[in-house]
Amino acid sequence: MGKKKLAVFASGSGTNFEAIAQACADGRLDAEVALMVCDQPGAAVVARAERFGVPAFVASPKEMGGKAAFEAEIVRRMDALGIDLVCLAGYMRILSDVLLDAYGGRIINIHPSLLPAFRGAHAVEQAVEYGVKVYGITIHYVNAELDGGKIIAQRAFEYDGDDPEEVHRIGQKIEHALYVETIQKLLSNL
Ligand code: GAR
Repeated sequence: MGKKKLAVFASGSGTNFEAIAQACADGRLDAEVALMVCDQPGAAVVARAERFGVPAFVASPKEMGGKAAFEAEIVRRMDALGIDLVCLAGYMRILSDVLLDAYGGRIINIHPSLLPAFRGAHAVEQAVEYGVKVYGITIHYVNAELDGGKIIAQRAFEYDGDDPEEVHRIGQKIEHALYVETIQKLLSNL
């Protein structure tokens, strides 16, 4: 049996993409990243994919005539590659039915809060503003709701301060480890 195939979607820096690609490269993940999808041409994740030799589909949904057309092209490419699991890693868009109908139940996301608290793009800043003392990371299945869907894994950490940058730094280390561990567990059950 060949290696399981992952697609990783990202919109920005791509440190989670890199953690997953690196884990595939050094054998901690029994998988390959067969496709990186990015909706922000020019995002740093694009250069990371190049460095790892991961094929990329990078396009602006607007320029492709909208989200449905953009996602239809992604589905076409993922079907052709035989993608087993889709990992959203800082992909800042809600998925439409085009992707959810085709890959629902096989799409997961990582989010920098203990969901259901602090959904959305500024979860860490909101949690700091709120003054929480226990932060965390959540990995969940993706549905049509923003950061919704059944929770797969969570990891908490304590922080008693007011610096969102520091929370991001602590959280990202946890994200990289937790995402790799969780993907490996899910793949072993596929
Ligand atoms: C990650 O911290 C991820 O949890 C967050 O975006 C960051 C992407 O970082 N996702 C969300 O906020 C989803 N609502 P990266 O590009 O360095 O992997």
